[in-house]
Amino acid sequence: MNQASATQTRQDAEIDFRELDDIIEDQYGNDKENLIMILQAIQRRYNYLPQPALTYLAAKIKVPVSKIYGVATFYATFSLEPRGRNIVSICLGTACHVRGGDRVRERITEALNIKDGETTPDGRYTLETVRCIGCCSLGPVVKINEDMYGRIGSDEVEKVLNKYE
Ligand code: FES
Repeated sequence: MNQASATQTRQDAEIDFRELDDIIEDQYGNDKENLIMILQAIQRRYNYLPQPALTYLAAKIKVPVSKIYGVATFYATFSLEPRGRNIVSICLGTACHVRGGDRVRERITEALNIKDGETTPDGRYTLETVRCIGCCSLGPVVKINEDMYGRIGSDEVEKVLNKYE
């Protein structure tokens, strides 16, 4: 893959507020008790939690924006920064580390030309390092969106990445 280094400029996704209403009102009844599920649904839609969506959500369910940010920053699963269409998670927990996870990560960073936590300029991939995703016997493990790749060799990395547009 041939990409320039990741962009540092933050730009929030364009928000379709009718779509947000579908989530906040129709699916979750404007109910602040459903805050975490609403945040999960918004993140599924945008791959992160866009600022304008959180401000809108706060007004809809009548919860201070600061509380919503408190929840969003408490759980590691939520991201407040724009992320790529495909989330590439490389596990560097102990089992994956001893089975060559570092070599796999090195190969991924070379292939995508980004570091941990960065997104490719075309918005195609975001790279994240995680600590154990619960299938240690398959290490080293790479997860791309919801797909798991166990016992992955560093020479297989590019082929796997290329499956994702
Ligand atoms: S250490 Fe990688 S899945 Fe557990």
